[in-house]
Amino acid sequence: MSQFNDRALTEQVLESFANTSDPRRKELISELVLALHEYVRKTSLTFEEWDFAIDFLTRTGQKCTAARQEFILLSDVLGVSMLVDAVNHRSRDDATETTVLGPFYVGEHKPMLHGSDISVGVPGAPMFVNARVTGRNEPLANVLVDVWQADDDGFYDSQKPSYETQGASLRARFITAPDGRFSFRTILPCSYPIPTDGPVGQLLAATNRHSMRPAHVHFLVNAAGFEPLITHVFIAGDEYLNSDAVFGVKDELVSTVERHDDPIMPDGSRATGPWYAMSYEFRVRPGTGHVPQPLTAAE
Ligand code: BEZ
Ligand code: FE
Repeated sequence: MSQFNDRALTEQVLESFANTSDPRRKELISELVLALHEYVRKTSLTFEEWDFAIDFLTRTGQKCTAARQEFILLSDVLGVSMLVDAVNHRSRDDATETTVLGPFYVGEHKPMLHGSDISVGVPGAPMFVNARVTGRNEPLANVLVDVWQADDDGFYDSQKPSYETQGASLRARFITAPDGRFSFRTILPCSYPIPTDGPVGQLLAATNRHSMRPAHVHFLVNAAGFEPLITHVFIAGDEYLNSDAVFGVKDELVSTVERHDDPIMPDGSRATGPWYAMSYEFRVRPGTGHVPQPLTAAE
C-alpha cells in the first residue's frame, strides 16, 4: 500500500486496465479515465456537483425511448457529434462536406419517383429540388438518396403520434438517374428548435443558449463503392446559420434558393404565391463507411 494521493489514484486506475488485451479498447478506456480525472482535479468538483451530474445523466437515459434519443441530443449540443464527424473526415478531397445525422433519421425510406411531391397536404411555400450525385467527375447512377426535413411547425413526421398510422411525410428515398440526377417537390424549410422538453433543454436554458437550428434539408447519399455521405443543405440567409444549436453548419453546405413568382410551377401546377428552387451537387469519395441505423425500439 502506498500513501494515497490523487495522482497516484489516477495511475492506479490506469494500471487496473493493464490486462485489457485489445489495444484500442485499452487506449479508449485509459484516455477516458485520464480526461475524467483531470476534469475533477481542475474543477475541484464538489459532492453536490457530482450528484447533480449523476442525476442529469440518469434523467438523460430515462428520457430515451424508441423514438427519442436524448444522449444523441446531448452529444449534439456539446459539439461531440460534430467532432466525431470531423476526426473521421479529416481529408475530403473534393467530396461534399458532412454534418450531423440528427435524431430523426428513421432508416430506409420509401422509394419515390423523380419529381414526386414529398409534402402532400403539408402547408408551406413550394420548393423544387434538383440535385445530382457525382463521383470524382462522373455522374453516378442508381445511388440511393434518403431525404428528410421538418414541417413549418418545426416537427419531423416521426415526432408526431400520427406517424404510426399515416406514415412518412417530408421524407423519401430517390434513386439517381443515369445522369446522376434526382428531383422532388417539397416545402421551403424553416428554422426550428431541437427538442427542449428533456434534460438537454434544461442544459440549454441553464446556460442561456437558444435551441434553434437553421433551416435545412437532410440528405443521406449511399452509393455502392463510395463513402456514405451524411449531410444537410442549409438555406442561405437564415438567421441561425452562425449559431446552430448543434454546430452543424459548414459554408459549403449553405445554398441560395431562388425565389420565383411565375404563375406556373415546374410540375405544371398553378402557384398561389412565391415558390422556390434549390439545386445542389453532392460529390462522394470512393471508399466504404458507416451507414447509420435507425433507433432501435426499447425492450
Ligand atoms: C436535426 O437536424 O434533425 C437535428 C440534429 C441534431 C439535433 C436535433 C435535431
Ligand atoms: Fe433537421
